[in-house]
Amino acid sequence: MRDKNFLIENNARHFWHPMAHPADMQSSPPIIVTKADGVHVEDVDGRRVLDGVGGLWCVNLGHSCEPVKKAIRDQLDIMPFFNAFRGTTNAPAIELSYALREFFAPEELTRSFFTSGGSDSVEVALRLARQYHKLRGEADRVKFISLKKAYHGTHFGGASVNGNVNFRRAYEPLLPGCFHIPCPWPYRNPFNESDPAKVAQLCASLLEDEIVFQGPDTVAAFIMEPVLGAGGVIPPHDSFMPMVREICTKHGVLLISDEVITGFGRAGAWTGARLYGVKPDLATIAKGLTNGYFPFGAVMISDHVRETFENNKSALGSIGSGYTYSAHPVGAAAAIAALSEMQRLNVADNAAARGAELIAALTALKDRFDIVGDVRGRGLMVCLELVSDRVKKTPISKPVIGKVFDAIYEAGVIVRVSGNNIIISPPLIVGPEHIAQIAEAVAAGLQAA
Ligand SMILES: Cc1ncc(COP(=O)(O)O)c(C=O)c1O
Repeated sequence: MRDKNFLIENNARHFWHPMAHPADMQSSPPIIVTKADGVHVEDVDGRRVLDGVGGLWCVNLGHSCEPVKKAIRDQLDIMPFFNAFRGTTNAPAIELSYALREFFAPEELTRSFFTSGGSDSVEVALRLARQYHKLRGEADRVKFISLKKAYHGTHFGGASVNGNVNFRRAYEPLLPGCFHIPCPWPYRNPFNESDPAKVAQLCASLLEDEIVFQGPDTVAAFIMEPVLGAGGVIPPHDSFMPMVREICTKHGVLLISDEVITGFGRAGAWTGARLYGVKPDLATIAKGLTNGYFPFGAVMISDHVRETFENNKSALGSIGSGYTYSAHPVGAAAAIAALSEMQRLNVADNAAARGAELIAALTALKDRFDIVGDVRGRGLMVCLELVSDRVKKTPISKPVIGKVFDAIYEAGVIVRVSGNNIIISPPLIVGPEHIAQIAEAVAAGLQAA
């Protein structure tokens, strides 16, 4: 690696950062992270901080997960790459598909389609949904419905079902036939309603209303995150996803559960859908699947969707989606090891317990700091929404939240700022002592506002 001066000198000069303005990155260069171990990361100045971000909702087993690292090293030695397009396959991909089928048995998701990440998985799920209906002779079912505030990656299909203007506006026109309903968010919603169950009911009614308005025979799928992540950590009331399931089934609309964040324990259950006892028709996974160590994802396919494809012998049943790195042997090897390690450590239960502690500790800060408008979360997906006026819920300004971030970092924890939200999603192996450290650092950050 080049020396520290070289890194500082060239920081943000020669590559554009995702989800950032290139000019901003040049005027306030990003923190250069140089090392990571366990639940900590270290910057170029040697400052070691607790990783309150989990890499980016993905390093669920921390940065020193030897079984995953070893699986990657070993597979690189055995066979670094060969494609899995029609005609060839590889051992780790076969083994992983078997393991995923077992893992997703409660959801009855029996087939995998491998991708290179979350956006790819969403894209393929949307495509498979349309294809499924065509195979069943319902070629008009091409529309998609999703939630405002949702995040489904940045491919054109994913951006089209995204519910946040920041990821849409510069790239319009997006895919035609995509429609959005309000998300079940008790803190902010168009109904002026704060009861989570009522908000859920209202949003579910609007979903049905939209399906009927569009014509059910024109709607391919509804896609949702079981707990909305990047849009500001919004956990719907427990009744919401089951109601959605019922409405989708009633109208023949496929339900796609976007489990890219919630897929492997992060929300306190092994999958987001399992939190609510729901069986989706398709599910998208990535991130924690390889513990973030290798770009890899999958679409999981329910048995009835599987049957429709596998029983149709026409050319239309062939999967016209695929990436060079679909079923990448190194990614598949990493995933096999990560799956087994996540289950061995039972990270879902730890996420539920530690998440409850974190939410309680942060909620207590509401009494001390007026700028905390809302604290919400589920498992180790947690958010503090900061406001300059609690009654009007005015979002705090960018410079103030920047100060809060800096002070939290000074206090030894890295978190993520998104709009007026502080988002916290540490590795799922954190202990109570780490939760206490995060809460103390956040208090120091709020003090500095
Ligand atoms: C719910 C959800 N879907 C899709 C994506 C896109 O995944 P990727 O960034 O791997 O393309 C993300 C990324 O954060 C996500 O949170």
